[in-house]
Amino acid sequence: MDRQRLWELISLPFRASGEKPRFVRISRAHVSGVSYLNIGEAGVRLLRDMADSGMKVKVRTTLNPGFAELSEAGKGSCDPSVVTRQREIADSFLRMGVLPTFSCTPYLEANVPRRGEHLAWAESSAVLYSNTVMGAWTNKESGIGALAASLIGVTSRTGVHIPSERVPKMRIDYQGEVSDEVLAGALGYVVGGLSEGKIPAIRSEGLLDQVRTTEYLAALGTSGSTPMAVIEGVSPRTRGRVVEELPSAKVSETDVRHVLDAFKSDQSPEAILIGCPHAARFSARTILSLSEAKLGLPVFVFTSRRAKNRLKRDRLLQKLRARGIDIVADACIMWCGLRSLGYRSVITNSVKGAYYLKNQMRIDVDLRPLRRIAG
Ligand code: F3S
Repeated sequence: MDRQRLWELISLPFRASGEKPRFVRISRAHVSGVSYLNIGEAGVRLLRDMADSGMKVKVRTTLNPGFAELSEAGKGSCDPSVVTRQREIADSFLRMGVLPTFSCTPYLEANVPRRGEHLAWAESSAVLYSNTVMGAWTNKESGIGALAASLIGVTSRTGVHIPSERVPKMRIDYQGEVSDEVLAGALGYVVGGLSEGKIPAIRSEGLLDQVRTTEYLAALGTSGSTPMAVIEGVSPRTRGRVVEELPSAKVSETDVRHVLDAFKSDQSPEAILIGCPHAARFSARTILSLSEAKLGLPVFVFTSRRAKNRLKRDRLLQKLRARGIDIVADACIMWCGLRSLGYRSVITNSVKGAYYLKNQMRIDVDLRPLRRIAG
């Protein structure tokens, strides 16, 4: 791939309309399309060719999680040939200057955007979080689109890079409770399906909590295509300003319950999976309360390398391991270890995670909030 092709990639949104392409300078990028599960051999070859050509990113660029844990700690958990492929993918990104963060919550620690900054981010949950909560400006880029933008330093000036495109176009009328992160995710999933690419605004006391906000937005990005939402009191300058005269769409508690019912499994669960999006700021005390002895099931917590290293430094990893809690870094919840262990049914607290585990990995899922898992 040469620079001409990179420009073609970032000009794609203008091709259909025939308009003259316009661009905006970006200050950060976040790249998805990292997992060998998703990009396969064709992706391995494309990234190797790009890295061989000597291209380097122009802005701070972080990397989404992959399919395997790449450090010594991950040894033995997955098919070695898959780990080798995942290493090759990581190596190509690193040669292009991408930071090896392997996390889907870059906005928390490794690539923290400021309000008003233009970004080229892939990974829908991170896109929605950075626009909605942090007030940064990014469209939902494809993995290769975000990489092309980071290699050139600009992206197409379309969508939510334009101020008039950042205003909500519909109001969600939801009077039900959002008392935990699973209900927040189920509500987000319903809203994503209803919004048809429009920015939905919502007022809900239950969403004024960081974990619930994260799960609401991650699920909204799973069922919908909008890169941004508005949550009154969470989104910048929105306290008391969810506009009443916007066209409204009613969502009932029954709609939300239907999402939970769709993921009910009658199989006995074999493991508990936490961390979709990555549990980067989790409290060790909460996680310690999830002990295998108490639950009778192994627990896997998916997080960033940085967060795992912090636990290691605080001598908590061994303690957690002794209680049957494994901290998995570098990998998405769609982790190769689930295949090696042969799990057919799991519990998770993430609606986004449940959707992909069920539809892409064919694993049955039961949704339960962390406080009910912990008992
Ligand atoms: Fe992150 Fe994978 Fe979930 S990239 S948001 S853990 S599906």
